Amino acid sequence: MPIKVEPILPRFGAEVSGVDISKPLDEATRRQIIDIQHEWGVTVWRNTHLDNASHVAFSRIFGHVELAPARNGQYRFEQPELFDASNIDRSGVIVDNASIRLAAKGNRLWHSDSSFMKVRAAEALLLCHEAPPHGGPTWFADTRSAYEDLPQTMKDRLEGLQAVHSYFWSRRRAGYPYTEEEVDAMPAAVHPVVHVHKGSGRKALFIGAHTRDIIGMQREDGRKLIDELIAWCTQPQYVISVHYKPGDMSIWDNLCSLHRGGEYEDTRYRRDMRRTTVRDPDAGEASSDHYTRLFTDAGDTPFAPRDSTLERIPEKV
Ligand code: OGA
Ligand code: MN
Repeated sequence: MPIKVEPILPRFGAEVSGVDISKPLDEATRRQIIDIQHEWGVTVWRNTHLDNASHVAFSRIFGHVELAPARNGQYRFEQPELFDASNIDRSGVIVDNASIRLAAKGNRLWHSDSSFMKVRAAEALLLCHEAPPHGGPTWFADTRSAYEDLPQTMKDRLEGLQAVHSYFWSRRRAGYPYTEEEVDAMPAAVHPVVHVHKGSGRKALFIGAHTRDIIGMQREDGRKLIDELIAWCTQPQYVISVHYKPGDMSIWDNLCSLHRGGEYEDTRYRRDMRRTTVRDPDAGEASSDHYTRLFTDAGDTPFAPRDSTLERIPEKV
């Protein structure tokens, strides 16, 4: 059966079917899936029959799968590659505390995962194990088409600009009690504001909630520009939402899309989402679990929020 691709927007997002991705795939099929992913930026796979192990195994077709940071120093799953994006604890009980509230708020800002790392994440594969009865979607925005539609004057203005990305800046935006000075003292990464998406050869904007400053611009002006660009990318004509049932999976390319978690009654309904993250294959040499180390080596300082009611290290988004 040939692979079927049903576009969601004319140039962004597609539902893909006709292939059983829970089983090992031949080289031609793997190539085809990678090409589809690069073309559409976000793909949606229904009723995949993936479990934890086959989720990780399938993710490897895209490249190196990163190790995920543990929650509260503990992994919920046997596979250390699985990032726990759920609202439940290890025994399946809904977690509701100040820290979770803030993490959810951060996740609802438009972002590109790991943009605050020097080595960026390319693909992210988010598999639904349990969904709330209504909603709980993920929203995605097309940063390639958004770039292409910019007025030429703006394209000229952005050419060659570099931006600073900081995890702690996006946490501050979400309401974490970090001061501007503390954010500035934390690790950050620099990336071009416009880059060529290698998989398609198209240019894309690379900004989001983690983008703290534009190098060479006054802070205020840079932030105004960042907000303007996020607003531009997230206009309705560039945006899709994916609603999940158990077994459904979305795959997004962090280098040509933005995403945000959608609202749902998260203190009432369990939403069990698990994610793998594939490193940018063009990133060159990097330690195998650079992200995990950033958070774990530091212990509780300086990464723990200062407010003692927030009892754990904020999670990656
Ligand atoms: C993520 C993320 C959104 C969601 O896992 O990186 O942003 O809908 N998830 O859970
Ligand atoms: Mn995310």
